[in-house]
Amino acid sequence: MSKNLWNEVHSRIASHDYMAGIERKVDRVKATGEIFTPTDLVVEMLKLTPMELFEPGKKILDPACGDGQFLVGAKWVKVLLAGMSEEDALLDIFGVDIMRDNVDICKARLFGGTILMGDILNPDKKLDKQTKEEHKLMLELFTNESQFSLFEGADIQFSVI
Ligand SMILES: C[S@@+](CC[C@H](N)C(=O)[O-])C[C@H]1O[C@@H](n2cnc3c(N)ncnc32)[C@H](O)[C@@H]1O
Repeated sequence: MSKNLWNEVHSRIASHDYMAGIERKVDRVKATGEIFTPTDLVVEMLKLTPMELFEPGKKILDPACGDGQFLVGAKWVKVLLAGMSEEDALLDIFGVDIMRDNVDICKARLFGGTILMGDILNPDKKLDKQTKEEHKLMLELFTNESQFSLFEGADIQFSVI
């Protein structure tokens, strides 16, 4: 049963082709480090994560989320294995990426979540193409004394930059 559910998590992630939808030239990849985690590896890492960390209210943060490989997987673990509604699962899902197009694809793949364009290393920095709302939320969530300050507010954190 659970094996089938993990297969389903895999196919939900893989319904978006790996690194598809954006032309990433060599210079861009060099500047951003945009090599996303392949789906097989995402699923293996999710399987190694204690299941209680996917329970309702457990916050999942990818501070360099790319197009959402981990966050899409985490959402479907919350729904398919932890029994949450999609709406509730998305309340626990947070992502940041410095590239506008990655953020937009990630949000579209998730159908929601708190996914922000921002510089996680300089969360107060206002970026071109970042919305006012995203900037406000970056300040609220990631600067001193806030929810994800030093990322201690996350129950699961993917990516290290
Ligand atoms: C190696 S990819 C990882 C993406 C995703 N976590 C995964 O494993 O598939 C790193 C991502 O970090 C983003 N990035 C680079 N510098 C960043 C920064 N200062 N703040 C937020 N995101 C950043 C890049 O645009 C890229 O999408």
